[in-house]
Amino acid sequence: MNTELPTEAMKPVPPHPPLTDYYDTPERQRYVIDLFNKTAKHYNTIEALFLNGGLLYRRSSLRLAGLRKGMKVLDVAVGTGAVARGAVRIVGESGRVFGVDPSPGMLGEARRVFGGPLTRGVAERLPFATDSFDFVTMGIALRHVSDLAATFSEYLRVLRPGGTLWILESHVPTSRLGHAMTRFVWAKLIPGMTLLSTRSRDAKLLMDFYWDTVDQCVPPKTIVDTIENVGFEQPKYKVVVPGAFCEYSGRKALTGA
Ligand SMILES: C[S@@+](CC[C@H](N)C(=O)[O-])C[C@H]1O[C@@H](n2cnc3c(N)ncnc32)[C@H](O)[C@@H]1O
Repeated sequence: MNTELPTEAMKPVPPHPPLTDYYDTPERQRYVIDLFNKTAKHYNTIEALFLNGGLLYRRSSLRLAGLRKGMKVLDVAVGTGAVARGAVRIVGESGRVFGVDPSPGMLGEARRVFGGPLTRGVAERLPFATDSFDFVTMGIALRHVSDLAATFSEYLRVLRPGGTLWILESHVPTSRLGHAMTRFVWAKLIPGMTLLSTRSRDAKLLMDFYWDTVDQCVPPKTIVDTIENVGFEQPKYKVVVPGAFCEYSGRKALTGA
């Protein structure tokens, strides 16, 4: 097991400022893992509020990003396997999909539906060898890492030369109207629907927390610049569903970074 950290010292880039209404700063990672542990059993119910369209979306987007039969994939923040399951269907029997996540509760849910190897770990310190994967994926979890620079350095390290980084994230429009509409949906409607469908205050809290991390997240340019600064080629950002999803991607140089 390789746990080496990126050697080049880079300034940390937190994805958002501390959200002290939820946790004391040093407790951030523990708070996030506890929240996902407590709500893991409700995650698929929340996904179903969107008619599971997100699952279909993740799979078609992976295909568009270049995922193919036979490839070896690492899905970071595997959660209940929403991205990993889609990847398995694309890479087929000749490929392999690995999942990693720090929440035992989420890994337990993933185990019910995903047959590939699952490992406990965080994005900032991946327990995988250098130059191991053709694709690194991450779905709706970038705001939960402590440092974008350390995370992207790890993604670059574990990718094979020529490998692809694909990240699905949440999108908030910058226009006043777009922001207000997105806020209404994600800060009011979805937490309310989540409470009604799960009857769990923790599940509602997860969705409240979701909105606050999304709303407070650093701008896309900071994320793209950080992807580039750690050494990825072709760093890209695109809005795919306004008010819902955007994607980040990058490529590891063929000669190695
Ligand atoms: C919203 S879920 C996303 C699950 C799945 N990828 C999807 O697309 O639905 C966020 C996941 O990020 C995980 N997570 C939290 N902190 C993390 C970290 N530092 N590194 C990797 N994963 C983390 C949580 O445990 C949780 O399973």
